[in-house]
Amino acid sequence: MLEKIKETAGFIKNIIQDTPDFAIVLGSGLGKLKDEVEPIHILEYPEIPNFPQTTVAGHGGQLIYGKLEGKKVLMMSGRFHYYEGHNIQTIVFPFRVFHLLGIKNLILSNAAGGVNPAFNVADVMIINDHINMMPEHPLRGKNLDELGPRFVDMSEPYNKKMIEVALNVAKDLGIKAHQGCYVALQGPTFETPAEYGMIKAIGGDAVGMSTVPEVIVAKHQGMDCFGISIITDVGGPDIAFTVSHEEVLQAADKAMPNVIKIVKGLVKNYNA
Ligand code: HPA
Repeated sequence: MLEKIKETAGFIKNIIQDTPDFAIVLGSGLGKLKDEVEPIHILEYPEIPNFPQTTVAGHGGQLIYGKLEGKKVLMMSGRFHYYEGHNIQTIVFPFRVFHLLGIKNLILSNAAGGVNPAFNVADVMIINDHINMMPEHPLRGKNLDELGPRFVDMSEPYNKKMIEVALNVAKDLGIKAHQGCYVALQGPTFETPAEYGMIKAIGGDAVGMSTVPEVIVAKHQGMDCFGISIITDVGGPDIAFTVSHEEVLQAADKAMPNVIKIVKGLVKNYNA
């Protein structure tokens, strides 16, 4: 495993010849950020040795290295979800490579269902904590000592300074941004009313199917993380709204300009 991670990192390093300031995952809600980066190198996933391959026909996935707000960023366009059937090690592989590339900061976005009654569809929530309810842990098994310790401190899963910078950016731009706890389930079903009730009861504000495995692996390696969710629907024990993928995508599109503004402001103003 370590050899593969090193081989992939070596391949990418050889091309980009630099250390990016941020890795950014273009999840739902950030896809169009791709159009705002000044690309320097575009690597197709199938060209990158050992890199996971997407299951979506016609969308092979790209790693884009370029400049955003004057900073060096490596963007992952096309991400991997557990519900697609990927092994959890496949999902986190790119993030181990990012560490070997020397990247210190990770930014992720996602679409999530809101259970906090203060949340409305198309709101944004800056993630300040998470609860991992995925069925598999990415650090289970022999520890990769070269990457990080066996037992990982998770007292600050989402970097407080990045959250503060992002909140200030949102405030200055007049964008309402909530903060909250993201609960990760495997999906692919959306939650039942009783499951939404459970998410709320255990202290969650939003629920989704991604992000947490990536953050765990990043923290193992000492990276700082920032996560932002678009609330694409709201649920609860006594709310029987239906949710469809189309509605999720529509809400994500509606909120995307705000998420992009916040992330651009964060990249510009955060100096770690
Ligand atoms: N659960 C509920 N609603 C959602 C999700 C989810 O995982 N993702 C986007 N909207």
